[in-house]
Amino acid sequence: MQIILPILLVASLASATVVWDVRFNDYSTAADFDKWSWSNQVGSYQTYIYGNLHGETASSWLTLGSQFKNPSTTAENQGVKVKINSTSTWNGGPMLRTELLPQTTNALTGHLYFHVSLQIPTVNPPDPAYEHQIVFWEEHYADIKYGQLSGQSGVADTLQVITGGQSIWSVTPVKGTWYNFILETGSPDGLWVSTGSSALQKVFTGSLNGNGGTDWHVGALRLPINGQTQQINETDIYYSGIYVEDSGPTTTP
Ligand SMILES: *[C@@H]1O[C@H](CO)[C@@H](O)[C@H](O)[C@H]1NC(C)=O
Ligand SMILES: *[C@@H]1O[C@H](CO)[C@@H](O)[C@H](O)[C@H]1NC(C)=O
Repeated sequence: MQIILPILLVASLASATVVWDVRFNDYSTAADFDKWSWSNQVGSYQTYIYGNLHGETASSWLTLGSQFKNPSTTAENQGVKVKINSTSTWNGGPMLRTELLPQTTNALTGHLYFHVSLQIPTVNPPDPAYEHQIVFWEEHYADIKYGQLSGQSGVADTLQVITGGQSIWSVTPVKGTWYNFILETGSPDGLWVSTGSSALQKVFTGSLNGNGGTDWHVGALRLPINGQTQQINETDIYYSGIYVEDSGPTTTP
């Protein structure tokens, strides 16, 4: 007993409280995403934003598998491939969308660490001529985006984080590389980033202009260019390591 107590104390000090854990361990296949509806809010994700004009379901667009996770993450055994194509119009809108949102009774507001890892894949990567909003709160106070921003011209093979209209971190993403992010909300707030198995480091200290919240979208939203019909082949983005903790942060991916 004299040995067990110190071990338990060390363990509890080392682990932050995860307030929303959505590392797909409680999903066996993507068909589990289809069990969610407004009248049956089961699982860890709301799944209602996807191309739905031809009888598609969430699992028409989402694929789970170990090949879609950051191999460095140990707390999950799979990640998700998020797909959009020309029929990804949600409720007839001009944008192409497949997104996951939190299903939780926790408000997810305050001083929190929102973790997400993502990869721009070598196969079916997004077209850099289009703005892709790939992690964002509905209020758009802090967005991870890929591609040329809407209203600008040309192409931009750029992965960046934007808050308050300013780009606070930006790279030309190496396709097939995992980028790990922590969006730190509340106060103090900021942005943590790393690649692959490297420890996340704080790259921006300053306001993210928001306080967290459950209207947090993880997935692909591609804007049209000048309102034109979108020209697109299958486009995929991979995500894993999605969770929110209230202390720490845990800096290993
Ligand atoms: C787009 O993807 C959906 C869902 O997987 C599929 O049903 C549809 O056939 C695809 N459309 C095209 C044009 O490839
Ligand atoms: C779709 O893929 C085909 C074959 O690789 C290519 O010729 C075409 O330009 C692509 N279209 C778009 C819109 O990317």
